[in-house]
Amino acid sequence: MGVSFLGVGMAVPEFKLLNFDLERMVDTSDEWIISRTGIKSRHISRSEDIIELSVRASSMALEMAKVDREEVDVIILATITPKMGFPATACLLQEHLGCKRAYAFDVSAACSGFLYGLELASALIQSGKARKALLIGAETLSQIVDWNDRSTCVLFGDGAGAVLLGEGSGEVIGSALYSDGSHASVLYAERCSTIQMKGKELFKLAVRLMADACHEVLKRYGYSIEDVSLVIPHQANARIITALAERLGLSEERVFVNIQKYGNTSAASIPIAICEAMQSGLIRSESLVLLTAMGGGLTWGATLVRF
Ligand code: UT7
Repeated sequence: MGVSFLGVGMAVPEFKLLNFDLERMVDTSDEWIISRTGIKSRHISRSEDIIELSVRASSMALEMAKVDREEVDVIILATITPKMGFPATACLLQEHLGCKRAYAFDVSAACSGFLYGLELASALIQSGKARKALLIGAETLSQIVDWNDRSTCVLFGDGAGAVLLGEGSGEVIGSALYSDGSHASVLYAERCSTIQMKGKELFKLAVRLMADACHEVLKRYGYSIEDVSLVIPHQANARIITALAERLGLSEERVFVNIQKYGNTSAASIPIAICEAMQSGLIRSESLVLLTAMGGGLTWGATLVRF
């Protein structure tokens, strides 16, 4: 038995902010945003907080898995926009979900947070230390965006994705994960401040580092890119995804893209994409899927999953 995705779920705030709305807020245009990023709209929290989004995504995953809340052993929540300084947002989520037996903690690894959390959760299940792990990527980035800075405010969105992991016929095959603090200054937000980004520099690093991590994880576990049925990259920029696909030698239909609807939701982007790829039939039983992300830290990596 391997570590399987027993259930998946997602949630985004009700309010959709269009590029046309941003035209009224900063000196930008729908044409610029679409051509430079691929983004058409993003969902922004007005009343929903990170807990509400996480509860909705987690409840969907638990229902799909048909797993009782008290069966969950551990809750891991990846975020860079926690509800409070402490306690961890995962603890507040645990209370709302009623997962009384679970211990809960947050992971801070920016856009790679879901992959880092997946490495932890699958290791706990593989070692027998947990039977059911709830892993969430959730962000309310709109709270740390400078809405006067056109170079960043058009990029980000809010949302949550959740997966329930446990023993089953699938397998989290393995990962190649990395961090490099020497690049901390290309993407960061100081405490109580807004996102600062050196976009061009980050763009080049994103393409190279994600491609290298994909090649490494395939090599490490004895697969080739031809074996992979779908690549799910972190959704930061459609042009980054196209350049990544080119480096990997992949045709468009084998690379998942939903950035047009949600923008960059950091740690939530991969679990939301997994949820939509499953719903649309792009991931089926036994599909070999390659997940890859890169974000502030820098943190980056790639993980191979057999569904
Ligand atoms: O999630 C973590 C990973 N995130 C990333 O990897 C993001 C990586 N970076 C990017 O996606 C891209 O660099 C951006 C989308 C952020 C920017 O695209 P770009 O093609 O690199 O544009 P640029 O920064 O070189 O800017 C080109 C021009 C500039 O004007 P000048 O100097 O040529 O006159 C900018 O001022 O576009 C201008 N510009 C805008 N114009 C209209 C920047 N933002 C905007 C905007 N609307 N929103």
